[in-house]
Amino acid sequence: MLSKDLNKAKEALLKNELIAIPTETVYGLAGNAFNETAIKKIFKLKKRPLFNPLIVHLKSVEYLHDITCDIPDIALKLANEFWPGPLTLVLKKKDHISDLISAGKKTVAVRVPSHPLTLALLEALDFPLAAPSANPFGSISPTNAEHVLNYFGKELNIILDGGECEKGVESTIIGFENDQPVLFRYGSISIEDIEKITGKLNIIIHSEKAPNSPGMLSRHYAPKTDTYLTENIPELLKSFEGKKVGLLLFQNPIQKNNNITQEILSKSGDFVEAAKNLYAAMHRLDQNNLDVIIAEKLPNIGLGKTINDKLERATKKE
Ligand code: TXA
Ligand code: MG
Repeated sequence: MLSKDLNKAKEALLKNELIAIPTETVYGLAGNAFNETAIKKIFKLKKRPLFNPLIVHLKSVEYLHDITCDIPDIALKLANEFWPGPLTLVLKKKDHISDLISAGKKTVAVRVPSHPLTLALLEALDFPLAAPSANPFGSISPTNAEHVLNYFGKELNIILDGGECEKGVESTIIGFENDQPVLFRYGSISIEDIEKITGKLNIIIHSEKAPNSPGMLSRHYAPKTDTYLTENIPELLKSFEGKKVGLLLFQNPIQKNNNITQEILSKSGDFVEAAKNLYAAMHRLDQNNLDVIIAEKLPNIGLGKTINDKLERATKKE
């Protein structure tokens, strides 16, 4: 059920039940990060493989020291710059953090979200919240409460409704190797903005079998409809003549045609707006009984890189 009742949300969490929470990036499927019953429920409901660790959501930067240790200076600098906000840091975990959350790793992912409803909830709790995105494993992330309702309406008693997510794509994930920052996942803070603090970032290329960050798993964020990515929309359209086609376009519509449904991510060509609209547009197209969705590649700069990364994973053929 959709709700804004923080008391009920707190009650459910104290009983080790799961709820959905709004964040500025995407909605999360949240449970008590200090309780293994709740953590197991997250993996089960999401059908998420146990090798894929969760993010712990804290109420403020001070709590970082309760969860993690040996924090590099540059990590603190990043936390102070971007929290509350869409940055996740992967740091050495303290022993009391469940190995389930970290999928057996010695590190744990943490962030302080900036959505006021979720911050108020965290403030009322004396434990942090473990929360992956509130979608079944591999499918499109939810950016409003209705998306979560469609996925988990039967299973969740409380979906905290915080409206449309402000950023619309997941947090940017930074880990550390020999105290040097490394990008683990493209997200809603651009690499360029992170590099203003860190200098040149290493980008870890994922491995299929043991991904460092399964946001980096090759197929992810995928619509059910057959989906393709291209730099040349008119050319690819020719291959689907007579089919019902959905187009996911960056800025410019193509000529009207009865067989074509179009979603424009940002009429003014603004990456931030495009990121905000990306998943909601994918959800809409996916619900249109189309034969095929064709997405347009964006310029590969700033958040264009993040959007292209998500689109590449959404269109990856197995
Ligand atoms: O914006 C977000 O980050 C959203 C909201 C709800 O906070 N959450 C989110 O969670 O995207 P999820 O579970 O869908 O993605 C978490 C990512 C995964 O790619 C996971 O592999 C990575 O974080 N991760 C978690 N712990 C890690 C660790 N110890 N080392 C490397 N990657 C880690
Ligand atoms: Mg996810």
